[in-house]
Amino acid sequence: VLKGVIFDLDGVITDTAEFHFRAWQDLGEKIAIPFDREFNEKLKGISRMDSLERILEHGGKNNAYTIEEKEALAKEKNDDYVELIKEITPADILPGVKKFLDDCLAAGLKLGLASASKNGPAILENLGLTDYFEIVVDPASLANGKPDPEIFLKGAEMLGLTPAECVGVEDAEAGVESINGAGMFSVGVGTADSMKEADMFVENTADLDLEAIIKAHSGK
Ligand code: BG6
Ligand code: MG
Repeated sequence: VLKGVIFDLDGVITDTAEFHFRAWQDLGEKIAIPFDREFNEKLKGISRMDSLERILEHGGKNNAYTIEEKEALAKEKNDDYVELIKEITPADILPGVKKFLDDCLAAGLKLGLASASKNGPAILENLGLTDYFEIVVDPASLANGKPDPEIFLKGAEMLGLTPAECVGVEDAEAGVESINGAGMFSVGVGTADSMKEADMFVENTADLDLEAIIKAHSGK
């Protein structure tokens, strides 16, 4: 029986996936590693330092920087990103998400947040959604980021539920892999191609339908 829903944040609750993309793309241009949206799919859900490593690898520059230099590059990206998220308001909640959260609470489900972002709590505050979530997994507490299942396993544990009692909602390929690895039912938001590993998917957050999810989860 479904008892909890564990959400990714960026690209599921609000469109910050686009801000991450812009901030990384700007940094990439500065260090002469241009990349497109297709490569960006491989960055979604990935922690800040792991994202930087993937970008450097993409440009064949893994060994071009010291750890201190990499930390400075990651900080530069985050400083840009923090400027972009300052402007976020409740109007930036993606279509249908508020209703979906309300439906979940009305159905007695517990809600958790499993975002790789250290900026997650600030974004929830700006969106006015902090009180919806019983727990927020602290990404700094994890040994392994997405696609490792740890973050969703920890989310379920913090809610006092088993993975089988939860569904996870994600827009990232790495995130779906993390949910599936946790033994949890995965709901994807994205294209049929990017969400091909998800147990079910919708193209748009407006199509998130709790009735349909409860039904699909019970049939798994
Ligand atoms: C994830 C995003 O939610 O958080 C990634 O999908 C991002 O793109 C990661 O790199 C870490 O975010 P932050 O805010 O801690 O740099
Ligand atoms: Mg995401």
